[in-house]
Amino acid sequence: MIRVLALLIVFTIPSAVIAAQLEFKMKGNLRQSIAIPSEKNSRSVIILEPHMDQLVAYVGKPFNEMMDNALGQDWRKGEEILFTCLDGYQSSIPVKKFQRFKAWIVWNRKDGKPFEITNKLQNNEKVSLHPTYLVWENQKEKELLEGGANDFPYQVASIDVISFKDRFPKLAPPAGSNQKVQEGFLHFRKYCMNCHAIDGEGGQKAPDLKLLNPMVRLTKSELRQWLLSPQTVRPQTLMPPIAPKLPSREKVADLVIEYLESVLAKK
Ligand code: HEC
Repeated sequence: MIRVLALLIVFTIPSAVIAAQLEFKMKGNLRQSIAIPSEKNSRSVIILEPHMDQLVAYVGKPFNEMMDNALGQDWRKGEEILFTCLDGYQSSIPVKKFQRFKAWIVWNRKDGKPFEITNKLQNNEKVSLHPTYLVWENQKEKELLEGGANDFPYQVASIDVISFKDRFPKLAPPAGSNQKVQEGFLHFRKYCMNCHAIDGEGGQKAPDLKLLNPMVRLTKSELRQWLLSPQTVRPQTLMPPIAPKLPSREKVADLVIEYLESVLAKK
């Protein structure tokens, strides 16, 4: 009976007020789970919201501080942090980036407006950010501004300190791959695997690229156009272009294609 009631409550209260849990893991093992919103010591931060190109003040806590509290200092010796989101999105971000730039986990807007964005990059889709959203103090950082919405995962429900090689062995380029393929792999990790898996490894927000097999269905120049401006190919698509403000984006597209050609040919 209590369970039925709990279910009823979950389905009848608007999502913005549901208390949620944020999980902290080490190599897949749950270490801590904290209730969100976490009011104690919460503060606000103003960022240039990359999905909307405007300044927004959010309420949350600095990422490094939350990690130290949840996992102790050990995570700082780790390799990558994997963010897993309710909509199937995943971001794997090197620990080093959290040492170079300041990130925050946020769970509300300061002005009390709904905790959501209108995603310009995805056909103006309105999306909830709940339960948590990873943001960066990007206003004065050229590198972060050029990266746009990259490494800003929303709907984050779990944070895991991982070794990329152990967690995603199938994404590695074939042994002995040339420099271009290796570089393309790094770009793929940054710009594609958030949404797409290859053979089951990676994000679950878009179709698996092993099944889509673009190298068979599209010519290289069609694929290039798709990656640089998908909406010119299919106006309603939810796939965003590669970081629109990145000066080297055309080169990134070519390198990603080199990587895909090589990794999708792997048996
Ligand atoms: C935010 C999520 C997201 C990201 C990031 C993303 N995609 Fe997609 N992609 C999609 C979705 C959704 C589709 C499904 C097709 C549609 O919406 O029209 C798709 C479709 C595709 C297709 C199929 C195209 C076709 O003609 O059928 C390819 C190939 C592809 N993506 C490759 C990539 C590559 C390579 C990257 C990185 C540069 C990337 N995607 C980044 C969401 C994403």
